[in-house]
Amino acid sequence: MNEKVLDIWPEIKWIKDESLREKVLNCWVYAIENSPLTPEDLKVIPFSLLIKDCKISFMNHKRTAVQLSVEIANLMKKNFGDEIKINMDYLIAGAILIDVGKLIEYDKIDGKLTTSNAGKLLRHPFGGVAIAARFELPYEVQHIIAYHAKEGDDAKRSIEAIIVHHADFVSFEPFKT
Ligand SMILES: [Fe+2]
Repeated sequence: MNEKVLDIWPEIKWIKDESLREKVLNCWVYAIENSPLTPEDLKVIPFSLLIKDCKISFMNHKRTAVQLSVEIANLMKKNFGDEIKINMDYLIAGAILIDVGKLIEYDKIDGKLTTSNAGKLLRHPFGGVAIAARFELPYEVQHIIAYHAKEGDDAKRSIEAIIVHHADFVSFEPFKT
């Protein structure tokens, strides 16, 4: 399964710290093993069940958000210099993990995708933090997962969480109907 996850998530290799890279990989392996979805499914299913006729796949949307996060962070570092401190490993790990909790939000009934009971009761930022805590991801990364969506709007987000939140939303909102 490690190879399959690295195949859908080549950005995991962008994480420089070996132990962090391993933990991120373990979270995704665990989530897929506990989900009705396969790595192949993630390449084809629409990234949102709430958008009618959505043609953008889950992986396309998620990888775009990670790639955008890195581009934004690099530009901010270049232009703002020492005025801004961004931990790139935390940023990339967090961006890769923000939607790992979605794997348990889905159910497959008679081959059709629906929202699972877990998905109805617990939105994916909570499920994602639970998975990240299980594999002892640093709190800085759990913070990015916890506050990446609307749940974090009233919180004080870290710089890494601010970047990931916006990168995620710009790769989502244009498709909202
Ligand atoms: Fe999300």
